[in-house]
Amino acid sequence: MARHFDGDKLVIASHNEGKVREIADLLKPFDVKVFSAAMLDLPEPEETGYTFLANAELKARAAATAANMPALADDSGLAVTALDGAPGIYSARWGGKTRNFDLAMNRVHRALIGQEDKSAAFICALALVWPDGHLEAFEGRVEGSIVEPGRGSRGFGYDPIFVPEGDRRTFGEMDPDEKHAISHRADAFNQLVAACFSK
Ligand code: IMP
Repeated sequence: MARHFDGDKLVIASHNEGKVREIADLLKPFDVKVFSAAMLDLPEPEETGYTFLANAELKARAAATAANMPALADDSGLAVTALDGAPGIYSARWGGKTRNFDLAMNRVHRALIGQEDKSAAFICALALVWPDGHLEAFEGRVEGSIVEPGRGSRGFGYDPIFVPEGDRRTFGEMDPDEKHAISHRADAFNQLVAACFSK
């Protein structure tokens, strides 16, 4: 049985304001005051884990300890089957220092030359850590495949080259609300809310 969240304050262990806003919106129905790591001037730990869950956990632990309140962190990326799960936890880093995702998507396409299996998944890990060290963790996924060339300019990151199962459009061609309803992030959040927030 997961631990229920019955506090009134939560820190979102991210310095990305877009992400903080998105998470705060999802938690609106639960009457929780949400702080960002930037608002509390928390340090950004290095992501030294080897799995999405390990990185989400280390970010949440660092924030829960520094802020002395429960902390929620996420870590996400694209895992391509024929590439043994790459770029995986290195998804952001494949974009280089300037986070150039044309470059990163090109790298995926080059690596897939000659490979028949184009299947891939977006994965999102969420870790909720309390100041006493208790952890609840969830992993959301959306299965799909890689297309070349990429299509659509509505999303971010690897969205133009990912077609979710059951659709013909890439995430980059979809209405953002449509993507958000089926995404790896939605899957992880639904699990978190069902386990820790729903009454
Ligand atoms: P992080 O979770 O903020 O570290 O993001 C990891 C990286 O994974 C991002 O920079 C994107 O390149 C990629 N990524 C994660 N989620 C998505 C998504 O929904 N669409 C496209 N790319 C994504």
